[in-house]
Amino acid sequence: MYFYHMKNIIIINGPNLNLLGKREPEIYGSQTFEAFFDELQTAFPQFKLHYFQSNIEGELIDKLHEVGFSYDGIILNAAAYTHTSVGIGDAIKGISSPVIEVHISNTYSREEFRHQSFISPNAKGVILGFGLKSYTLALQSFL
Ligand code: DQA
Repeated sequence: MYFYHMKNIIIINGPNLNLLGKREPEIYGSQTFEAFFDELQTAFPQFKLHYFQSNIEGELIDKLHEVGFSYDGIILNAAAYTHTSVGIGDAIKGISSPVIEVHISNTYSREEFRHQSFISPNAKGVILGFGLKSYTLALQSFL
């Protein structure tokens, strides 16, 4: 017998990304993440997509622990915590699901403090600078 395993993939967004659509639209665009997420699920019917957002570092770590031993993939935009969080970096090291780091903006073309990432050394890959399309490209890596 053949059971088709539908891949479970979660998008985890960090602080301030709940404001997408209203926050600095010249950098982050004018679409809400909820609307974009619905488009993504329609575009990738072969995946079961999940979404979690928190402004709280420990909640992001708890979610990584919760999904990180069973999900097929994690797409993580840790936002500002990318540049500060040893704890999130260590969490990624400690779990087994592959993590793709994404950013909406090209962090290397911005302030110097955005050039440091505690996520990148522990991520399977990094996609940044393509607007919300960065998430689409990250999902394609799981096809
Ligand atoms: C971001 C880039 C970070 O430097 C910033 O703190 C964010 C969003 C991005 O997606 O471009 O909040 O992760």
